[in-house]
Amino acid sequence: MDKLVINGPCQLTGNVTISGSKNAALPILMACFMAETKVTLSNVPHLKDVTTTIQLLASMGVDVLFDEKLNIELYSAGLTSKEAPYELVKTMRASILVLGPLLSKYGEAKVSLPGGCAIGSRPVDIHIKGMQQMGADIRIEKGYIIASAKKLIGADITMELVTVTGTENLMMAAVLAEGQTVLRNSAIEPEVTDLACFLNAMGAKILGIGTDTLIIDGVKSLTGVKYTIIPDRIEAGTYLAAAALTGSKITINNADASHLTSVLKKLRAAGAEITVDGSNITLDMVGKKLLPVDISTAPYPYFPTDMQAQLMVMNSIADGSSSVAENIFENRFMHVSELIRMGADIYLEGNIAKIKGVDKLVAAPVMATDLRASASLILASLVAEGETEINRIYHIDRGYELIEEKFHKLGVDIHRTN
Ligand code: UD1
Repeated sequence: MDKLVINGPCQLTGNVTISGSKNAALPILMACFMAETKVTLSNVPHLKDVTTTIQLLASMGVDVLFDEKLNIELYSAGLTSKEAPYELVKTMRASILVLGPLLSKYGEAKVSLPGGCAIGSRPVDIHIKGMQQMGADIRIEKGYIIASAKKLIGADITMELVTVTGTENLMMAAVLAEGQTVLRNSAIEPEVTDLACFLNAMGAKILGIGTDTLIIDGVKSLTGVKYTIIPDRIEAGTYLAAAALTGSKITINNADASHLTSVLKKLRAAGAEITVDGSNITLDMVGKKLLPVDISTAPYPYFPTDMQAQLMVMNSIADGSSSVAENIFENRFMHVSELIRMGADIYLEGNIAKIKGVDKLVAAPVMATDLRASASLILASLVAEGETEINRIYHIDRGYELIEEKFHKLGVDIHRTN
């Protein structure tokens, strides 16, 4: 099994290009088979989760081609299968996103209950309830969701919790449903907005994009388009946190600062000087003292749970004490025990981590437990003295494109081994 080996401590320098957003690309890929004609997608990141999604679509009969610029072309005139099998989707929770499009366009779907990061129970009850409200008949059998509907009918749906993939799934179900659907308490993450814009570009009628109430008038069919995926705000935030942590100055390119407001605010509070120039963001922390920042995760536009682990590493060596509250997922503190093994002083009290900044971290063999936890261990190794070996890095390949190449370019002594 692959490992990453990193020699620290180090300082970063130079610039890094941010890839397309994983969490926008996945639902958009899933939405492609609702189109009657060819869809061409640009800025799709080359990641394990994207490969899994493409395999899934191909297994259902979608033709997938890469052009000379690595744009992805998808053509799905006639599906041969309406099943998302366990073998393909067990590693990826986002596979649940085939449910809405399949049900909406073909009136039937058999989708394995999702796996993915082990960060709590992560149910899909809100997805299922919403589709039932739209008239779907849904049962769970042997680990599969089996759904059918002659025709989905628009409904007025209030989601009990703000859920990103839940909003996306119901939005995709609604675009080809009969009549109007209102989705209340919708997630407003930029990835949800990107999906909505993509669907509208294909001919859907979604109003209220970017607000928590989406009004969707069902249309008869969708046509193919060319579409460019937004930059990955979490990858961007991770590199910026790496620079803040190591007292470095770097520039990230192809980023969208408007999606990073809450993260940039915390990085500034930690002492970083940040300048935005179009799609370039420069963070300068050279010679500055790293200050502790309190964090409380919440749905967008507030601080993202996907950046919690990375900011916790910064707090681990900041000058003072801080607290980090995780309000979205239970069990999303699995990085804490590994950070403690590297010398961090962190105490857990329910969903709150209390952190006392220490002078330095030390290298140790550590284990990645989920996607963002792996990122935090890479960050910790940048400031740890000695050689850190990070095991189980398949998690990181699910979400960070070319991670060792990108850190290597920024001056980090990093390599992959097995
Ligand atoms: C998405 C992101 C993930 C991010 C998360 C929160 C993708 C592919 N993944 O995950 O990176 O960390 O949003 O920003 O986009 N819940 C229920 N019932 C449901 C659905 C959700 O109880 O039917 C709960 C979850 O357990 C969790 C909360 O709602 O406590 C939010 O989860 P949700 O927004 O659905 O996360 P994901 O869409 O899985």
